[in-house]
Amino acid sequence: MQKTAKILVTGGAGFIGSALTRYLIQETSHHVLNVDALTYAGNLTSLREVEADPRYTFKQADIANTSAVEDIITTWKPDAIMHLAAESHVDRSIDGPAAFVQTNVVGTFNLLQAANAYRKSLPPAQQEAFRFLHISTDEVYGSLGPEGYFYEDTPYAPRSPYSASKAASDHFVQAWWHTYGLPVLMTNCSNNYGPYHFPEKLIPLVLLNALHEKSLPVYGKGENIRDWLYVEDHAKALYRVLSQGVPGEKYNVGGNCERTNLEVVHTICDLLDRKRPRKNGTSYRDLITFVEDRPGHDHRYAIDAAKIRDQLGWEPAHTFETGMHATVDWYLQNDWWWKPIREQKYAGERLGHT
Ligand code: NAD
Ligand code: TYD
Repeated sequence: MQKTAKILVTGGAGFIGSALTRYLIQETSHHVLNVDALTYAGNLTSLREVEADPRYTFKQADIANTSAVEDIITTWKPDAIMHLAAESHVDRSIDGPAAFVQTNVVGTFNLLQAANAYRKSLPPAQQEAFRFLHISTDEVYGSLGPEGYFYEDTPYAPRSPYSASKAASDHFVQAWWHTYGLPVLMTNCSNNYGPYHFPEKLIPLVLLNALHEKSLPVYGKGENIRDWLYVEDHAKALYRVLSQGVPGEKYNVGGNCERTNLEVVHTICDLLDRKRPRKNGTSYRDLITFVEDRPGHDHRYAIDAAKIRDQLGWEPAHTFETGMHATVDWYLQNDWWWKPIREQKYAGERLGHT
């Protein structure tokens, strides 16, 4: 890909999209147009480090709006699209699945249609160089037992409204490759964590609840397993796939870092015990509360990331230990970012409780 390409990032005000946008502006010479509807999960403050850069532009738009998507693509003329905009929280998908269909399915369809029509208007060399990278999740593969991994050819078996909507969008993306020849790439990644993570997800929720001396809700017995990846490693993987991946291929991305939820919560408590001890001298672990399980709770996710490692040379730089240190330090030092969210948008109440 050329040195100064124009990359349209959808969902650039979200957790992973903002990490990717900061990476593209700070570590490459590409131009970025961030297209984001600014739902509850979108925060332009996550882009403070790059918002003044002349290579960065923001456009507020809903990807479910067909004409807005067409307008943006034909006017800005991207060389590549990295599609991250989504409704992303499983618990919210249990409470209100409609928004997940609208954004994740209809929005992705709109982008595919507009991207393909635009690509066809380009000269042949540019048509060939055009890329559409769809960012998806390992949750489309369903739930694992104690053994085994998700591979790129693992059959899809989504079980939550969120993962069903992502699986549907993945199938549309594949169809646009096979049917229309749109040069698509796809990534399916495991659970991310790190700075600027909206505090509805396990790690930032527990961290901030602990700092506020609130209970730390662990669903069921805390035995469910996730494979954790530091968000900046994911951003690098996405750029690696965009610039070096083979069109039509999908790449699983993971941290090779399985932990039970209880282990994750213990890690947060132990780090906080050292870095910000409780005033009463006891451990944050005392705040752990086992609560009613999530309906349809997937037991275990684990990615085999050999393909992206062997074919594209990507491996995570962070271990869970280094990543969690960095994450806890970031939240301790950056209350300017999360305080307004906790006070005005979401204070940590239980979601997805049928
Ligand atoms: P996020 O919820 O933090 O951010 C989503 C962003 O999309 C927000 O800025 C939001 O405003 C925007 N958005 C939502 N609906 C929109 C719409 N209709 N039009 C335009 N913008 C809209 O999500 P995230 O955790 O950063 O996830 C980004 C992508 O990565 C998603 O596609 C998700 O499925 C995928 N993913 C996430 C994880 C994870 O652990 N968070 C893991 C694997 C894959
Ligand atoms: P979450 O961060 O919502 O990500 P996902 O459901 O996409 O994996 O949840 C991670 C794990 O933590 C999942 O097994 C559910 C569990 N969990 C809790 O135990 N307590 C909580 O308050 C939350 C939000 C999640």
